[in-house]
Amino acid sequence: MPSYGSRSASLSISHMTESVRNETIRAMDLAILLQLGRRWLWLVAGAAVLGGVAAFLVSTRLTPSYEARTTLLVVQRQGEGVVQLNDLQTAERLANTFSRLVTLRPVLDRSIQDGNLPFDTTELEKRIGVTNPRGTQLLEVTAHASTADLAARMSNTVARAFISSNEAALTSRPGQVSVVEEALPPRDPVSPRPLVNAVLGGVLLMLAAIAVVMVIEYLDDTVKSGEDAAEQTGLPILARIEQFGRRRNAREQLPAANRPGSTIAEAYRAARTNLSYAIDLGHDRRLILVTSPGLGEGKTTTAANLAVVFGLAGHRVCVIDTDLRRPTIHKVFGVDNSKGLTTLLLSREPDIDRTLVRSLHTNVTVLPSGPLPPNPSELLGSARMQEVLDGLRERFDVVLMDSPPALVVTDASVLGMLVDGLIIVARAGKTRMGELRATITELAQTGRPIAGLMLNRVSTRDAGYYHYQYGRGYSAGDEPEPDVPRLRLQNLAAGSPPATDARPTGTGE
Ligand SMILES: Nc1ncnc2c1ncn2[C@@H]1O[C@H](COP(=O)(O)OP(=O)(O)OP(=O)(O)O)[C@@H](O)[C@H]1O
Ligand SMILES: [Mg+2]
Repeated sequence: MPSYGSRSASLSISHMTESVRNETIRAMDLAILLQLGRRWLWLVAGAAVLGGVAAFLVSTRLTPSYEARTTLLVVQRQGEGVVQLNDLQTAERLANTFSRLVTLRPVLDRSIQDGNLPFDTTELEKRIGVTNPRGTQLLEVTAHASTADLAARMSNTVARAFISSNEAALTSRPGQVSVVEEALPPRDPVSPRPLVNAVLGGVLLMLAAIAVVMVIEYLDDTVKSGEDAAEQTGLPILARIEQFGRRRNAREQLPAANRPGSTIAEAYRAARTNLSYAIDLGHDRRLILVTSPGLGEGKTTTAANLAVVFGLAGHRVCVIDTDLRRPTIHKVFGVDNSKGLTTLLLSREPDIDRTLVRSLHTNVTVLPSGPLPPNPSELLGSARMQEVLDGLRERFDVVLMDSPPALVVTDASVLGMLVDGLIIVARAGKTRMGELRATITELAQTGRPIAGLMLNRVSTRDAGYYHYQYGRGYSAGDEPEPDVPRLRLQNLAAGSPPATDARPTGTGE
């Protein structure tokens, strides 16, 4: 019947969807495990090597212990007054009883005397062991000593002393004992065994390291590769920017410009595309605020590099330093900061065009902070600020604003109300998930869309996994690419003149 047919078809589709979902979850779990493995491999492998080497070295320095064994046979004695023991079970029991007689004090005392052994009775007792292998009439006398010869001498002497004492008590003992095999000096010590200990030490320390890693990972609530942050905040990851090495000069802070073929530049280009779609850049949406929960997480770096990649894609970009407390945009772009945003905000007749500074980077204009004011929050929330931003809207396709940290001062919240969208930067391994959530709650009050998270300073190892995803559809060069929503922006920009009257690039601070 047709209805059955369609029902079974829909069932099989939902079954397929479910299996695809499970596959995806499995793949993600595997990816997270691989990342964990990559991040902690050095510790786990290091612990294994350290444990192995330490155990080996300690073992080779320990006093060796040699074990020698003499084997005796116990048979029942035939004769008057002695119970006739014919069955095997009784013979075994006899051997078992005899095994306890070997280490009695008289036998040990005699052994020390006969063999001139360098121990007292208590010490010798500790070093001698007697076993009766199950189901046999055999006794195995073992001795432990620091040299092979001494061990053999000890076990043979004790065995002989026991036989003599047994012969002496002829009438009261129901069995006869003889040596089946004399002990020979063993070739190798039984302990320590450096190689075995090295393997054990390595495995043990490796397991301890894994346990430590699990505790660290459990207690550590910092943002890591991004899946965790995306899952817990519900925000998309715009890009993962890997660590680009220790900065020696400000220029190094612009890998999007200086190393256009690098995976970092590629990640910024991915962020540009994702951002454009996330807040539907264009029309009247041009102003983007870049902020983060705390200090030094990469707000300035993100704003500056995004400005570069937007500029390279043909958009007229203005990057404003709205961090009026610790401004650094002018250093990154190497421009003069004697005039800037604060000059515009404090002057009666702001001349935006004369304050903007063209940077050396294609299509990127900078509005530095200008001299620091005593009341940044008030200035940023003023009507004049709104006027300045309106002026910039007319002149540029994209306006990126670098801001102070959102959880430290209120400036980012004040600025958030003036923009069309926000980007939150989180620093991998430093920004805490709780801080990120608090920032999102804080910024949600602005009523402006949060486009997503930029995960900054991801370790190269973690980033490697994701570059594969960024890589597709992106060229490695620094040519403007046609795939970004440039047309839309260009259309919108039509009729609005580019930033004019901009001064040449300044010299720095
Ligand atoms: N991906 C990265 N790899 C290596 N270093 C980075 C990266 N991102 C930022 N940095 C460095 O970290 C430092 C802080 O970065 P940045 O100034 O962008 O942070 P910020 O959030 O703007 O700081 P602040 O809160 O002080 O304004 C700078 O020295 C910068 O060069
Ligand atoms: Mg900054």
